[in-house]
Amino acid sequence: MKVCSVVGARPQFVKAFAVSRELRTDHEEILVHTGQHYDEELSDVFFDELGIPEPDYNLGVGSDTHGRQTAAMLEGIEEIIETEGPDVVLLYGDTNSTLAGAIAGAKIDPLVAHVEAGLRSYNRDMPEEINRVLTDHASDLLFPPSESAAATLAEEGITERVHVVGDVMYDSILWAREVAAEESEVLDDLGVSEGEFVLSTVHRANNTDEPDRLESILDGISAAPLPVVLPVHPRTENKLQEHGLWERARSELEVIDPVGYLDFVRLLDAAERVATDSGGVQKEAFYLDTICVTMRDETEWIETVESDWNVLVGADHEAIEKELSTNRYLEEKPSPYGDGSAAEEIVTVIEEALQPTTEARSVEDA
Ligand code: UD1
Ligand code: UDP
Repeated sequence: MKVCSVVGARPQFVKAFAVSRELRTDHEEILVHTGQHYDEELSDVFFDELGIPEPDYNLGVGSDTHGRQTAAMLEGIEEIIETEGPDVVLLYGDTNSTLAGAIAGAKIDPLVAHVEAGLRSYNRDMPEEINRVLTDHASDLLFPPSESAAATLAEEGITERVHVVGDVMYDSILWAREVAAEESEVLDDLGVSEGEFVLSTVHRANNTDEPDRLESILDGISAAPLPVVLPVHPRTENKLQEHGLWERARSELEVIDPVGYLDFVRLLDAAERVATDSGGVQKEAFYLDTICVTMRDETEWIETVESDWNVLVGADHEAIEKELSTNRYLEEKPSPYGDGSAAEEIVTVIEEALQPTTEARSVEDA
């Protein structure tokens, strides 16, 4: 079978890595990079470290308004689908690249398959929430990472061709944790020790674009009792500068450029806790037994909060400070996101979905 995978932003490279590895053992993959992320440290470093093959197409769309960016991707992906004629268009997560792939694929022949289906924040102000809902409803095959995500799809009337496979990011991190522990020198490079620093990432549109929220987050993480390492997303760097907070951030935190996946996994594994607004980092913290403080008002990864390994604090600096300072003693974790074999299951389900039905086969054979 021929699968056209669409990626474009940092977390999608991590997700596609696990599935690509499985897919390419027996099948043909056409990898499309929309170019949504293009800086070396947000894109190339993931391909190099994870050994992901060079994209067959890079649309080079770059940064723009949501409408223009998504439209440019849509036009490019449609043309590739028409040229390549894949059996499946495979999509990940909830970015504009995901939505463009869904719209392009759903109006032509291939099956549209969505990895990380059924996640909802129920916050329609998040661009990602619109992307998730529309992608799920345009997809033919849905791969929720948990039973609760499948139940959400059912509530929205999507019950056919839904396969709970677990989280592909778990597959990726099982590989990365070991390799990072052996190869990464990031702790020495930064002069931080295991269990003696806080890791932080911030990039959500509403946290960075609103100066009050961004300042409050800075107040909160700066008040942590341990040094704070902040690999800064370019969007956040731009906004810190625009809002006059950049020099303060650099003097109160260990601000560094975004790091590659292996260094990030090493940092996350070694951190005493993490303060983040990232979707992926919340789950990765959970997998690595690192307590997570989520600087958002809601999360799609509800199991991490229900099990107390993650706590929602919004942009409230007092709540951030408190959650970074309070001792937490946690019970055993549940395993709601599978066993690290999501990628294998996804490939099997796609293979089965493309098999002609028994009836059709016997007509053909006759
Ligand atoms: C995007 C996704 C978000 C995901 C995040 C992962 C959407 C709507 N948002 O957010 O869901 O969590 O990626 O990191 O799809 N920029 C650079 N260099 C780059 C890329 C971006 O400097 O290589 C800067 C540009 O100023 C750009 C801004 O970051 O305007 C935002 O980039 P964009 O891709 O639009 O959104 P993200 O915030 O990265
Ligand atoms: N990540 C990374 N380097 C960094 C920050 C994050 O490799 O400096 C990885 C992280 O391990 C996770 C992914 O990027 O796999 C998360 O991406 P991000 O937070 O940008 O997006 P989200 O998950 O919120 O969509």
